[in-house]
Amino acid sequence: MSREQLLEWIPAGHPDEALARQVDFERLPAHIAVIMDGNGRWAAKRHLPRVEGHRAGIDAVRDTVETAARLGLGVLTLYAFSVENWKRPASEVGVLMRLLKRYLRSELNTLLANDIRFQVIGRIEELSPDIQDELGAARERTADNKGMLFNIALNYGGRAEIVDAAKRAIASGIRPEQLDEERFAGFLYTAGQPDPDLLIRTSGELRVSNYLLWQIAYAEIYVTETLWPDFRRQHLLEGVLAYQKRERRYGGITPAPAVIGAQ
Ligand code: FPP
Repeated sequence: MSREQLLEWIPAGHPDEALARQVDFERLPAHIAVIMDGNGRWAAKRHLPRVEGHRAGIDAVRDTVETAARLGLGVLTLYAFSVENWKRPASEVGVLMRLLKRYLRSELNTLLANDIRFQVIGRIEELSPDIQDELGAARERTADNKGMLFNIALNYGGRAEIVDAAKRAIASGIRPEQLDEERFAGFLYTAGQPDPDLLIRTSGELRVSNYLLWQIAYAEIYVTETLWPDFRRQHLLEGVLAYQKRERRYGGITPAPAVIGAQ
């Protein structure tokens, strides 16, 4: 999409309008990955049960997905449930799964209206059949959309993904001498997608938490103190603007500053 599509969605005079006008649409990250963190702390601050933080987090998901699509991002990946999250109380896991199901049902029309293609990355086959059905239905209904790809990482682990990719590579019959980084990436859950240029983590924690370990090799990391349920369009735009101020080196050297008066 474009600046116009973003601006038409922001009420005139709203503080986000100034942020949207600063975005350089020629230098957008192709892929933004987000670690949605701080739901429990958001709830604790309000003396609410943890699950209320997850419930409130759905509004942040909705706002982030629409902002990302209107910006014109190629890919957005949200970390909804890690392979480690099964260690949480069964009641909390149950609420997270129900929220996901409800989100997919209630947001399908918004995904379609915004031309968003939905996909899941993770060990989907270990999820309950009803969740798998819901995910499959959302994937199929949005499969022909041509806009942003929206990945939800579910029962996802970066190391598990690399192990799964290695198994797929072996099963494919590829010979060791044929395997290189590009071919190996083709066995990951994100095969064919650009790597994240920007990794956003909310709630101030400085960890990557087993998220997209292969793919974030050169990602810029942006950490905000904002707790996930409070994350909105403003925060995503701030992350993109911070990214656009960074100089990316990919292991190279920083270009010397231009010397004034030099030929
Ligand atoms: C981390 O907060 C958040 C999660 C483990 C789950 C994120 C899930 C949602 C926002 C809802 C469902 C998602 C979608 C895509 C519909 P935490 O509980 O670890 O917070 P804490 O660190 O403050 O305890």
